[in-house]
Amino acid sequence: MNVVDLLRRWFINSNAINLSTIYSEYGLSYHHYITEIIRYWNKLQFIAKKTLRSLSKDSNAENISLEVYIYTTYRFFWEEAQFETIVNEINDSLRIPEKKILFKFYEKLSTFKWEIALQKKTQVDKLSIECAVPSFMIKTLLPVLDYSSIKQNIIAMDTRSRKGITYLRINNFTIPAESLSEIQSEIIEYFSRIGIKVKSDNTFPNLLLAKALDKRRIVKSDYYQKNVITFQDKASYSSILLLDPKPNELICDLCAAPGIKTSLIAQQSKGKSTIIAGDFHQKRLHKMVNFLNRSKVKNVDISQWDGIYPPLVKESFDKVLLDAPCTGSGTFTSNPELKWKQTKKFLDRNVLLQEKLLKSAFILIKPGGTLVYSTCSLYPEEGEYQIQKILNNQLKFNKEPSWLPPSYLINDSSIKGTGRFFPALHNTIGFFAAKIAKRKSE
Ligand SMILES: C[S@@+](CC[C@H](N)C(=O)[O-])C[C@H]1O[C@@H](n2cnc3c(N)ncnc32)[C@H](O)[C@@H]1O
Repeated sequence: MNVVDLLRRWFINSNAINLSTIYSEYGLSYHHYITEIIRYWNKLQFIAKKTLRSLSKDSNAENISLEVYIYTTYRFFWEEAQFETIVNEINDSLRIPEKKILFKFYEKLSTFKWEIALQKKTQVDKLSIECAVPSFMIKTLLPVLDYSSIKQNIIAMDTRSRKGITYLRINNFTIPAESLSEIQSEIIEYFSRIGIKVKSDNTFPNLLLAKALDKRRIVKSDYYQKNVITFQDKASYSSILLLDPKPNELICDLCAAPGIKTSLIAQQSKGKSTIIAGDFHQKRLHKMVNFLNRSKVKNVDISQWDGIYPPLVKESFDKVLLDAPCTGSGTFTSNPELKWKQTKKFLDRNVLLQEKLLKSAFILIKPGGTLVYSTCSLYPEEGEYQIQKILNNQLKFNKEPSWLPPSYLINDSSIKGTGRFFPALHNTIGFFAAKIAKRKSE
């Protein structure tokens, strides 16, 4: 199997390829090419097709499959690779006449001009190709973000794994309680000795930041292998600070797997709360059990359930976290394949599921209790609009903490208790969070 065969499989049936396993199954360079080519899929296709059209008609260009042209385009445009190198990498049964055609294509690529190619496109289509996202995504974001902000956020997501920051959280339960204050400086010093710059986050205790490029080296360290540190984005961390879990509380985590936030709930409540956590997906739950065991988290009871009808007692929880399934439109850094799932149908399906889960989450909370709702999405449909729909006199909005960045303005005003993190502004995933309290019955 070569890179082009993998691309072909993805092109024919995107579900046949799991991007997260390509690294372990095929190695680092395949992983890099596949993820980056998928990230820029429509843009590469646009350049390749335009270039092909300008090749002379009798060149038999159709004897070569589109994936080969797309791969060649990526290696030429993004990395200035030599033709011979590309042909060796493709390692295909390209015969001499086909190699000649591909060479003509390769040469033609250098004449490609964006100003000319995009001449007749609308502003939305231009941005869609330039930023390599479906035009649906741009149209959906335009009521809340201008063109330039959309562009900046997409670029920030696309470049974050090369130029951005990654966050690490210290797992308190994996170290003796008395050494907690020392461990942070110990970790920073250790990484500094091996040439990796790690520093403390200014806002949140227990959170460290490092260059995303150093991720692979961090994974190899003993601290990571022994679960003393875990990757957790600052935005995701913030949702648990909003929840503010305390010892002796009964807390439900309705969509919990793989348990990154559950373990932080346990940590913030010093292991003294009771956490009832569940998820729909068995595989993810297995991962969660494994992760919580390795993190030495003990106060969690894990079940498999449909969060729309969880087998739990109504109005019994002090706090409920609904970290809802969503389009993932704020997570393209690590999930570039999600770009090409962004359609109206996909968004509508997620919105409907979130509505049902929100309703069920709300029923579980005691009067006076708290709900935190979050999604890793940039769309207001999965954030502000969802909260707007459930506004009624049963709810009370808490004042948001000063560190929570403002959410979108809806009809010129912001919804109390809600906030948003943006890749371009906060160096995080795109994330929405809301904290709502259920009124006590009079
Ligand atoms: C954003 S992820 C949760 C991430 C998790 N909170 C964490 O921090 O590790 C959303 C989860 O919702 C789960 N899910 C989707 N539909 C569900 C349903 N009907 N009931 C329960 N869980 C569901 C998915 O399996 C997925 O694990």
